[in-house]
Amino acid sequence: MQQQIKLYYKNATAEVIGAEHGVTKDQLKGLAEKTTLLIRRINEERKAGKTPYRDLPFNTQIAPRVKELAGELKDSCENLVVLGIGGSALGNIALQTALNPYTYNLDDNKRAGPRLFVFDNVDPSQLGSFLDWVGDKLDRTIFNVISKSGRTAETASQFMIIRQIILEKLGPDGLKNQMVATTDAEKGTLRKIAEEAGLRCLEVPDGVGGRFSVLSAVGLFSAAMCGIDIDSLLAGARDMDSRVGSEDFYKNPAAINAAINYHFYNVGKKLSVMMPYSYALKDMADWYRQLWAESLGKAKDLAGSEVYIGPTPVKALGTTDQHSQVQLYREGPNDKLFTFLQVNDFDRDLAIGPAPDCAPELSFLAGADLGTLLNSEKRATEYALLADKRPCLTILFDKVNAYTVGQFIYLFEVTTSIAGALFDINPYDQPAVELGKEATFALMGRADFADLAKQIEPLTEIDGAYLA
Ligand code: PA5
Repeated sequence: MQQQIKLYYKNATAEVIGAEHGVTKDQLKGLAEKTTLLIRRINEERKAGKTPYRDLPFNTQIAPRVKELAGELKDSCENLVVLGIGGSALGNIALQTALNPYTYNLDDNKRAGPRLFVFDNVDPSQLGSFLDWVGDKLDRTIFNVISKSGRTAETASQFMIIRQIILEKLGPDGLKNQMVATTDAEKGTLRKIAEEAGLRCLEVPDGVGGRFSVLSAVGLFSAAMCGIDIDSLLAGARDMDSRVGSEDFYKNPAAINAAINYHFYNVGKKLSVMMPYSYALKDMADWYRQLWAESLGKAKDLAGSEVYIGPTPVKALGTTDQHSQVQLYREGPNDKLFTFLQVNDFDRDLAIGPAPDCAPELSFLAGADLGTLLNSEKRATEYALLADKRPCLTILFDKVNAYTVGQFIYLFEVTTSIAGALFDINPYDQPAVELGKEATFALMGRADFADLAKQIEPLTEIDGAYLA
């Protein structure tokens, strides 16, 4: 039996926190009926090829191509730099934090590949500082520019800065050698640039949105370069696929997860806090935050009526945020659903040393394992939240490894699809992100957006009368 992740939902029920705040058996029954019909619909849509992200774990071409390219480049590559944003970066970061050691970039003996840097911002201080460091190592550095559209201003500008530096130092052949483009197979600005410059290319599969693309070349290439077992990752996702297609609601973790989230949103708990008790899973909460927010935050339902719907995802980290957020979580408004991520077996553990003689009050900790303390703190926080009738879910990981992380990613992707169906919205588009992208084009002087620039300026220029 391979290691698994499981969803535990008892602590969201009325049985534990009472009927005012918990989901009752009858409510769950109603949710099961509604959700089962939708699972059927989603399964049919999948068969009709309408949700291509579902097929990524079964794709027989992507992983071999990614491994072939990683094999070709890995030996001469000391640094891998991902240039991307949103769905073209968050999955890469999450996989690296989850599946490689904390000191990966620092420790040459622990690294099974190049150092990894992911730039998902255009802060000049940050990128400038990195470029100062990498300047004399360009010929040992691979830059993976990831953009489905190729027109995202952040990624395009990072690419253009680095392209210029490489061309100046290493010439056109250097650009060919050091740059890998991950983009649409046929169309878009980056495809055009890559073909003209003769860059090595990987594909963002057609019909797969950025936030659903981590199991494509978008996330797999940096993972494979950094020694992550991408076959296990995909096998884990396939394992979860066999569970989340089930029309038996109570056996389908994505269905229960989506239905419980939907229920709590409708009864006024509009915030969804994901709180890993595992540093390795910290950035999975960040990846989830984008998936949930961009997919479910929608103005219109499928019929086109205005609904302005969407739970607000919040990321927290146990135990760190016990000392930052838990006061609010317990005594603030009861408007949140909590999802803990708990690991049963850490890949290593540390015994706490003896208490100093002058501090016998610390001896209760002496000899205990740090992992036991971390999990006890999770249980303690959950207990404290339950005392205040706050609903809690837990995703239990047997272990954090590529196989269970693959399950987790796929579980939350399908949860998002089912939640989208429950909310009756389209979870696969992001029309509201477009206006901000276009406004940036306008403010940066793109002639075809000149009219938009005129509308933006009076609204966003600083009005001195309001400066305090
Ligand atoms: O999920 C999404 O679709 C977005 O977050 C995109 O990934 C992000 O906007 C970057 O887009 P692109 O890959 O086209 O540069």
